[in-house]
Amino acid sequence: MAKPVKSFTCAACAASFSKWSGRCDNCGEWNTISEDKGISAGPPSKSLGAKRGSAMQLTDLSTEEAPPPRSHSGIDELDRVLGGGLVPASAILVGGDPGIGKSTLLLQAAAHFAKAGLKTIYVSGEEASAQVRMRAQRLGLADAPVQLAAETNLRDILTTLDKERPQLAIIDSIQTMWADNVESAPGSVSQVRAASHELTAFAKRSGTSVILVGHVTKEGAIAGPRVVEHMVDTVLYFEGERGHQFRILRSVKNRFGPADEIGVFEMTGRGLAEVTNPSALFLSERGQPAAGSVVFAGIEGTRPVLVELQALVAPSPHAQARRTVVGWDSGRLAMILAVLEARCGIPFAGLDVYLNVAGGMKISEPAADLAVAAALLSAREDTALPAETVVFGEISLSGALRPASQTENRLKEAQKLGFTSAIAPAGGKAAAAAGISINTMSDLTGFVGEIFGA
Ligand code: TYD
Ligand code: MG
Repeated sequence: MAKPVKSFTCAACAASFSKWSGRCDNCGEWNTISEDKGISAGPPSKSLGAKRGSAMQLTDLSTEEAPPPRSHSGIDELDRVLGGGLVPASAILVGGDPGIGKSTLLLQAAAHFAKAGLKTIYVSGEEASAQVRMRAQRLGLADAPVQLAAETNLRDILTTLDKERPQLAIIDSIQTMWADNVESAPGSVSQVRAASHELTAFAKRSGTSVILVGHVTKEGAIAGPRVVEHMVDTVLYFEGERGHQFRILRSVKNRFGPADEIGVFEMTGRGLAEVTNPSALFLSERGQPAAGSVVFAGIEGTRPVLVELQALVAPSPHAQARRTVVGWDSGRLAMILAVLEARCGIPFAGLDVYLNVAGGMKISEPAADLAVAAALLSAREDTALPAETVVFGEISLSGALRPASQTENRLKEAQKLGFTSAIAPAGGKAAAAAGISINTMSDLTGFVGEIFGA
């Protein structure tokens, strides 16, 4: 008989290997590699039914068999991120740092879906049912018809779900689940993968929507939900800075709606509250126009969001000047600094550069380039930008400015919040919004000359 082929997976980066070693060749972490014990170790599965194996014409699908409608929780910020409500039989992963508020969010979601008429089960592997109930009481949700279970054994959970056939099952968290046919410890890649696979398969088979909670750590030391991401239909990340009360639920993958959609929440003493106007919130701490401060008119998913960028540029006491970024990509900052130096002759050598996106927001849009450049120049020259101005546009390596998408939406949002002018790349579909003047520029040199007179 052929020897069974063994495989090993790194818990930090999910790379696979044919033999064990103490250090992962891929990411360099120590003691993160463990053997995969596949689900094949369990009892043999049923053979495929004749019907399941057969193919059919796409056109044979009658419209009467259209999928059942989405369910709405009534928490608009959540429903929008889901792509317009919860899709039956879908598997959703909600990832985030420990303590960021995932359990709070999902308990609130469970209560809302249950009140909206969905049969809902909340399975906690981390807290006893009494603790979950106490939290629900604190959130004012004790009367919601949610069924609670405190359980980590996957087989027991699946048996319960099979019997109860809920419309929504929440598993908090996938790292605590334990499949008895897999030898490694809960939280290992093999366990997380086996549990996710079984629960996702259950969702497809039964029509239950399954929400899996996954912890990610900055070091990625726990078997991160990364291995789970490709198994599920939708991946949402719950992010935020510990010191801030704002929390952002962001869809990074969604088979049933747009990715990059965000929902904004505020952590209060009574759970998460929806923030329906994030721009107002992100700009609320803004004072008088100051050097280094610029308002960026951004788009997150389908929604315009205004955020304040803050830059500080100061002579560096170090041999190697510092570049520190919070809320934006540090590689992109290096690129903007290089373009400013090469195309506009403005050096940043010997200067420490700090860039911060206010409110704990994270931006990934290239359209933030021009706003970043404006903040850096404003800080370097110690000159504030004209008051009540928003900035957006992408910068190319040549120093040319590229038009951003959804110009009109950005301008409308700015106008709604009382801004009177905008600096934007030429060539965008800048259908002038009423009450806002647009200053269009075609390259960075022109921008520097006009705004900073350099
Ligand atoms: P939690 O939902 O337990 O986080 P996670 O499941 O992501 O680990 O949230 C933990 C934090 O939220 C905790 O530090 C306390 C805070 N919190 C509030 O501020 N208000 C509340 O109403 C609740 C329930 C929690
Ligand atoms: Mg939790």
